[in-house]
Amino acid sequence: MSDRLIQLREDFDRELSAVATDADATALRDRWVGRKSGVVTAEMKTLGSFSPEERKVAGARLNEFKSYVEAAIEKLQADFAARREAEQLAKERIDVTLPGRRPPAGHLHPITLLRQKVEDIFVSMGYTIEDGPEIETNFYNFAALNIPDNHPARSPQDTFYLRGEGDNTLALRSQTSTVQIHAMQRRTPPLRVIAPGRVFRRDTPDATHNPMFYQVEGLLVDRHVTLGDLKGTVEEFVRRLFGPETQTRFRPSYFPFVEPGAEIDYTCFKCGGTGCRVCKGSGWIEMGGSGMVHPNVLRVVGIDPDEYSGFAFGLGLDRLCALMYGLDDIRLLYENDVRFLEQFK
Ligand code: DAH
Repeated sequence: MSDRLIQLREDFDRELSAVATDADATALRDRWVGRKSGVVTAEMKTLGSFSPEERKVAGARLNEFKSYVEAAIEKLQADFAARREAEQLAKERIDVTLPGRRPPAGHLHPITLLRQKVEDIFVSMGYTIEDGPEIETNFYNFAALNIPDNHPARSPQDTFYLRGEGDNTLALRSQTSTVQIHAMQRRTPPLRVIAPGRVFRRDTPDATHNPMFYQVEGLLVDRHVTLGDLKGTVEEFVRRLFGPETQTRFRPSYFPFVEPGAEIDYTCFKCGGTGCRVCKGSGWIEMGGSGMVHPNVLRVVGIDPDEYSGFAFGLGLDRLCALMYGLDDIRLLYENDVRFLEQFK
């Protein structure tokens, strides 16, 4: 091999070993075997000055070198391509044996669960579920319910007023009893409805109070409805909710929209009436208010109190929920802390 060719080969090998990228390899190929300005191409051109025999030998050697250069670069490029592919495959690798990722499933809020239980019991007794607005006029919130102008519940310290005047003053409803009026305006007796929903009072939040809470109102109007029907209905309700041994008692009380009125207690679902932490040792738990619908309330909606009578009751869902789940603070129910809520699946 000529000294010249040995030198070229050394140069090429050195440059070849310095190639680090695909782009370097392309540049190397252009520099050495590029059709126009490649080193080997230029070398070919010098063959013209050789004698025919010399040209034959030198040409063959140069072609051999050219093949060597092309093969070396091709191999390099193939290596780069293989490495790129391997990297790509590694990046896209999927382990089909990994367990799937379950989408997190939500569930109903404890108050919703309890509300649905209450609804189911009353629906099975022939009641319809009725709804009413959370923003109410004074007429529905108070006047139609026989609540006098000077009643403390009407005070702006107790009720969230919005605007307006007289019976049209708007406020956040402070009781679901408002739905009694709506229901009697929408329907004609006989009627049986319950109305679960949110109510609002200007209470300072603490472990047992929140300015927003849930009530369930009940109303039945028909001919010859008696206090016995009220008691029987409430008794059936608590038995279905807490078990057949549950007992009720009625304590006389005053609510302007009923006459007579009573507060309902039931025997503690935890101790059965012997006294425990849940019922604070008394054996009884307060459920809510009730009574026979006041004749004035029937008259407001055009129902003749001489022909029809009815009973109504209202109970709070939040405290019941807190008692049933052993919560020591009802505010937990409104904070939407998933760690808390997840416990009620
Ligand atoms: N609305 C009353 C309250 O929020 C509860 C109540 C008492 C509802 C007696 C009634 C009832 O239907 O008859 O305190």
